[in-house]
Amino acid sequence: MTPHLYISSKILMKLLLVLCLVSLIGLLFAHKEQIVDNLSPRWSAYYKSYLTKDNSGSEEIDEQLVTSTQFSTKPLQPKATTTAPSPKLSEKGKETSMTTNKTTKMTPTLQKVSIKPIDKLVELPHGPTQRPNVTLKLQNASTRKSTTFNYLGDKYATDETHVNSKCPNRTRDKLGSKEFQDMFLEKIPVLQWKKHAQESEYQRLKKYNGAQGWMGVTWEIINESLNLLNSTGNAYMFDTWRGQRPCIRCAVVGNGGILNGSGMGQEIDSHDYVFRVNGAITKGFEKHVGERTSFFSFSTNTLMNSLYSYGNKGFKMVPRTPETRYVILPDHDRDYLIVRAALTNTIIDRGREKGKDPSRYFGKNLTTEHFKILHPDFMRYLRNRFLNDPILKTAGRDIYRPSTGASLLLAAIHTCDQVSAYGFMTPNYKKFSDHYFDSTYKRVIFYSNHNFRKEMILWQKLHNAGVIKLYMRD
Ligand SMILES: *[C@@H]1O[C@H](CO)[C@@H](O)[C@H](O)[C@H]1NC(C)=O
Ligand SMILES: *[C@@H]1O[C@H](CO)[C@@H](O)[C@H](O)[C@H]1NC(C)=O
Ligand SMILES: *[C@@H]1O[C@H](CO)[C@@H](O)[C@H](O)[C@H]1NC(C)=O
Ligand SMILES: *[C@@H]1O[C@H](CO)[C@@H](O)[C@H](O)[C@H]1NC(C)=O
Ligand SMILES: *[C@@H]1O[C@H](CO)[C@@H](O)[C@H](O)[C@H]1NC(C)=O
Ligand SMILES: *[C@@H]1O[C@H](CO)[C@@H](O)[C@H](O)[C@H]1NC(C)=O
Ligand SMILES: *[C@@H]1O[C@H](CO)[C@@H](O)[C@H](O)[C@H]1NC(C)=O
Ligand SMILES: *[C@@H]1O[C@H](CO)[C@@H](O)[C@H](O)[C@H]1NC(C)=O
Repeated sequence: MTPHLYISSKILMKLLLVLCLVSLIGLLFAHKEQIVDNLSPRWSAYYKSYLTKDNSGSEEIDEQLVTSTQFSTKPLQPKATTTAPSPKLSEKGKETSMTTNKTTKMTPTLQKVSIKPIDKLVELPHGPTQRPNVTLKLQNASTRKSTTFNYLGDKYATDETHVNSKCPNRTRDKLGSKEFQDMFLEKIPVLQWKKHAQESEYQRLKKYNGAQGWMGVTWEIINESLNLLNSTGNAYMFDTWRGQRPCIRCAVVGNGGILNGSGMGQEIDSHDYVFRVNGAITKGFEKHVGERTSFFSFSTNTLMNSLYSYGNKGFKMVPRTPETRYVILPDHDRDYLIVRAALTNTIIDRGREKGKDPSRYFGKNLTTEHFKILHPDFMRYLRNRFLNDPILKTAGRDIYRPSTGASLLLAAIHTCDQVSAYGFMTPNYKKFSDHYFDSTYKRVIFYSNHNFRKEMILWQKLHNAGVIKLYMRD
């Protein structure tokens, strides 16, 4: 009895010791997370993006940071300034030759990257005083040697598909007013389709990264996927419109917590078209957000993130009602690949989604008309003119683009005759949870790949100018 007891208490002691160690390590990790979360939003985003090798699956939907390749290897990629790189890299180097003597010696590993935010970024509200010594150094792109390449690329193709309308009082006509005249281009192409599958277009657009161009997507993939988009429905947003009224009225529904308990469902559904984005769950929230989805917008990346993060809340698949069409925001080759596979009834043959069957996401009853892809010129135009951000003057610029919700709302403004916006960020956003479908209050987190504050200010301006009707709940 006694020896037995003695042994087990010894084992117990050891167990306790191990437990203590484990919880100590756990505490350290938890503390680290807390430090990161308490950093100012931009710092936090940079820090997290360096910590996380593959963060595309775990981050919030619209706040997701771009993949590690996009962030950490592009702007600071040293290879380009050194010797005989691959053609793709040398091209890259021309565009972002902001590498210095110091950075060229660096490898793109996490610890060695050294970035310091420019002054503007530091001004944002800080968390508690504890901050890790993250020596991140953002070079000022404007101080580097000028290159012939114009990063912003503020020149665009033209397209008249959405210019004409029978509506006598299109609200977007107000975009021609003085306040917006430096931003608005009436003939900006909104969608891309077969017409754009031209090698000259490829040469022009492959210079721009992410959603702003075709960089990193081969000509073969662009050509094949865009060639499949050969119907009116691919070129024109409202191919199902039968002229019921002179003006096309759209409701664009963001996922903001402001919609929780709003009772706006009926009003939203009474529009001619209802636009939704990313993790938009309607089931169980019909009274407040409506149930129709005419257009559903995502990028392949945000779609995968939504399924991952909001699956347990009920986002199990993209909306698939008979009226639903998909408005894709293409920021990788993944987006062209998923469309190509979906429309050819094949399995995705390469890239991140290799081996996946698109019918798993969109069902088997797909037609060409189901897909509309936003044009890179449109995305660049939004970034440059409507949501230009100081980050574009830094090495971190490649990660920045308007959020998916902002892109969709602005796409609606450029195509619909009248636009009402619900669930977008308003100055009273702190009163509401991040999303209307959150089960407990979650504050809105700002990451550096989008600028939600700037977006919020833009919605206010557009509302005050009568371009949109913004739901503000006050
Ligand atoms: C690199 O360093 C050398 C000497 O340290 C200097 O002469 C040269 O101008 C530097 N080059 C650049 C691009 O800064
Ligand atoms: C941060 O680390 C660098 C070297 O990595 C060091 O030179 C600097 O003094 C540190 N700053 C603080 C505030 O600890
Ligand atoms: C970055 O460039 C701007 C001009 O566009 C300049 O005002 C600013 O001082 C520069 N910042 C640094 C850190 O060089
Ligand atoms: C535009 O005109 C229609 C009637 O032609 C009217 O019902 C609608 O309220 C007007 N909209 C705006 C925003 O002025
Ligand atoms: C582009 O794709 C189409 C259809 O897939 C094909 O017929 C054509 O030859 C391709 N063009 C080029 C230049 O590759
Ligand atoms: C679009 O292309 C498909 C083949 O990819 C073809 O079957 C169809 O007839 C084309 N539609 C139009 C309107 O040209
Ligand atoms: C497939 O689509 C057609 C027309 O878009 C529709 O009539 C039909 O009901 C759909 N079938 C299924 C199983 O959803
Ligand atoms: C949603 O609103 C209800 C009251 O209408 C509130 O009790 C609940 O906490 C809100 N949900 C979130 C996530 O904020």
